[in-house]
Amino acid sequence: MAKSPGIDSRAVRHESMDDWKRKPKIKMKGLILAGGKGTRLRPLTYTSAKQLIPVANKPILFYGIEAMADVGIEDIGIVVGDTHRDIRSACGDGSRWKVNITYIQQESPLGLAHAVKISRDFIRDDKFCMYLGDNILRDGLHDIIAEYEKTRANSLILLTTVPNPQQFGVAEVDRMGNVTRLVEKPAEPRSNLALVGVYLFDKRIFQACENIRPSARGELEITDAIQFLITSGYTVRPSMVNGWWKDTGKKDDLLDANRLVLQNIGRDVQCEIRGQQPIEGNVIAHKEALIMDSRIRGPVIIGKEAKIENSYIGPFTSIGPGVQIRGSEIEHSIIMEGAEIIDIDTRLADCVLGKNSLMTMSGERPKAVRAMLGDNSQVSL
Ligand code: DAU
Repeated sequence: MAKSPGIDSRAVRHESMDDWKRKPKIKMKGLILAGGKGTRLRPLTYTSAKQLIPVANKPILFYGIEAMADVGIEDIGIVVGDTHRDIRSACGDGSRWKVNITYIQQESPLGLAHAVKISRDFIRDDKFCMYLGDNILRDGLHDIIAEYEKTRANSLILLTTVPNPQQFGVAEVDRMGNVTRLVEKPAEPRSNLALVGVYLFDKRIFQACENIRPSARGELEITDAIQFLITSGYTVRPSMVNGWWKDTGKKDDLLDANRLVLQNIGRDVQCEIRGQQPIEGNVIAHKEALIMDSRIRGPVIIGKEAKIENSYIGPFTSIGPGVQIRGSEIEHSIIMEGAEIIDIDTRLADCVLGKNSLMTMSGERPKAVRAMLGDNSQVSL
């Protein structure tokens, strides 16, 4: 019996397993959308692209790039807007992931279908996987790409049930499993099936994007372009998402994504620990971090040069590089690079603290809450 050609070729060329895994299994490009305004995450997005906000100490955008690299997609286009400098400097040319990144500048956020339109020169006639840069999909892309290849459809869309379909593109599917209708953020959704921000397309989508008009919110909606494919008789297959998926567009979603990613981080405590307090459960601590007289209860991730002193860090907390926490208790939170939390005598929970922010109890009399908060900040005392 003939052996698998894959196994034969590996044996002959003595490739490592890693090399082999990276081989493109399919001729497909990647398109990641990282433009947009990120208004729902202000004030964080005044100074940073929303796709670069860290989840478990890694920019959200990197999850999409990694998922593509993992299935062997080698050419990735990233659509960028106003925040292009930060995104370019964070992702570079892609060599870190052994992929080639091409940046595609979008003059203003005119919609997901507009982002597809301007990517035509990059995609050419190839099939492609479009990934919204603020989404995280737990199970990666292997299964859905295999399914797309098998069905030979013009497009494969991912769906999942949600309690709040008004906030998503919503699909209606008939008893045979065919997508019959797609509506973007309907006031009265006719199903609870939301469109997940990962799509597979062939070149027909360009024709669709040329044939739609801006929606009421002034954007060229990808939902309308896919509806155009359906109406024009092209095949659009739905696939249900099995593992979790998160659109990190709002604060609670961000914290949720952080919790879901931290759930599976494992344990690797390399840093210096002073004192006898326990480090319990799944904790990843960078070797240049320092934990002094503090109790850590995982899952928790602690970045480079972070310093935690006389404190309690509870489950589902990401502590970024250079963060200082002293005399405080915190759980279920994201604390970004260089932030400081000093002597807060109430436990902090569900907090997202931006880079270099400072939270402190001064002890001055009269006792009062004193604050300097940026535009659109939120504090719940
Ligand atoms: O997350 C899933 C949802 O994503 C789908 O259910 C919706 O059908 C789909 O329209 C989309 O809705 P959002 O309102 O969440 O899309 P948002 O404006 O947040 O943009 C998604 C990503 O695309 C984000 O990384 C910013 C980027 N983007 C957005 C626009 C409007 C661009 O690169 N260019 C753009 O013009």
